[in-house]
Amino acid sequence: MNEIVVSGVRPTGKLHLGNYFGAVVNFVKMQNEYPNCYFFVADYHSLTTHPNPIDLSSNVRLTLIEYLACGLDPNKCTLYAQSDVPQIAELYLVFNMLAYLGELEKVPTFKDKVRSQPDNVNAGLLTYPVLMAVDILIHHAQKVPVGKDQMQHIEMTRNFANRFNHLYKVDYFKEPHGFHYGGEPVSVPSLDGQGKMSKSKGENTCIYLSDEEDVIRKKVMKATTDSGPTEPNQPKNEAIQNIFELMNLVSKPETIAHFNDTYNNCTIRYGDMKKQIAEDMVAFIAPIRENIRQYEADKDLLKRIMQDGGEKARISASKTIREVREIIGLKF
Ligand code: ADP
Ligand code: TRP
Repeated sequence: MNEIVVSGVRPTGKLHLGNYFGAVVNFVKMQNEYPNCYFFVADYHSLTTHPNPIDLSSNVRLTLIEYLACGLDPNKCTLYAQSDVPQIAELYLVFNMLAYLGELEKVPTFKDKVRSQPDNVNAGLLTYPVLMAVDILIHHAQKVPVGKDQMQHIEMTRNFANRFNHLYKVDYFKEPHGFHYGGEPVSVPSLDGQGKMSKSKGENTCIYLSDEEDVIRKKVMKATTDSGPTEPNQPKNEAIQNIFELMNLVSKPETIAHFNDTYNNCTIRYGDMKKQIAEDMVAFIAPIRENIRQYEADKDLLKRIMQDGGEKARISASKTIREVREIIGLKF
């Protein structure tokens, strides 16, 4: 498939199973199907929250390491840090002239930030969707694998692309579309029995790809359950549904069928079920954690991968910048 794919991730620290099953695993599959995938760490974006410089650089490294450890292959996709492509900053400047204050102020993610960080409502936060549009359009992507919460940003990207084309009377930027690879998005539940796994809910509610075996076992054994079904074929409450969903991610079909049967005939022992999930999760995560360890030990390798990825992304981005300068009249 020849469509260009772009997606970015904010460097917010170590990845959990939700990030893995909800996003990264799909990127790994896509790199085999789409020869032009650009995956990057959105470090310019994260400056909106003024991170400490040491944390920022270590989180960018860690995110790239974990992406690689999950199977992203720099020979199949372009993997880079956004800030290694300064052409993005130039196109961002141009697109800021096309974006209207009124439309930016209405964006739900901006309104959320105004509520959650009223002391730091900076212009970068307001123009976050402009920078995101540029991330996508700089490589002329048509496909953008993102979660539901980002769909409005993709719609704005289409608006900016069309506005540019209209203003300069060209048919230059294509409309990108958000999509979910493989159909229905997977939602990984939290260990506390409620809602999705998310780092904002606390360390013990998430299983991280870098968690050691004993940490995984301890966290899974503490997952919320209840005192067990009291009648056959009883509908599952949220916590029990969640524990089964976790099992679905890592256990064999016959194991899942066995615990479903014991649930339905009221003989289930959640302690046994959690032990089984813990062991299957340990086995699932072990090779990823080992890959993380190896990339962490080889600093030169990561540096080379980042340099190569940056170089490839800059080649694509510079072509766009050259053409945009020509279109808008910045040519002498
Ligand atoms: P968190 O909620 O831990 O802060 P992020 O918002 O950084 O996670 O997640 C980045 C991406 O990872 C999301 O856009 C989504 O695709 C995926 N993701 C995160 N948590 C989950 C989850 N529990 N289930 C499925 N996908 C998830
Ligand atoms: N805004 C996205 C998020 O919060 C990250 C991101 C930045 C992105 N630029 C992008 C995603 C471009 C897709 C394409 O998850």
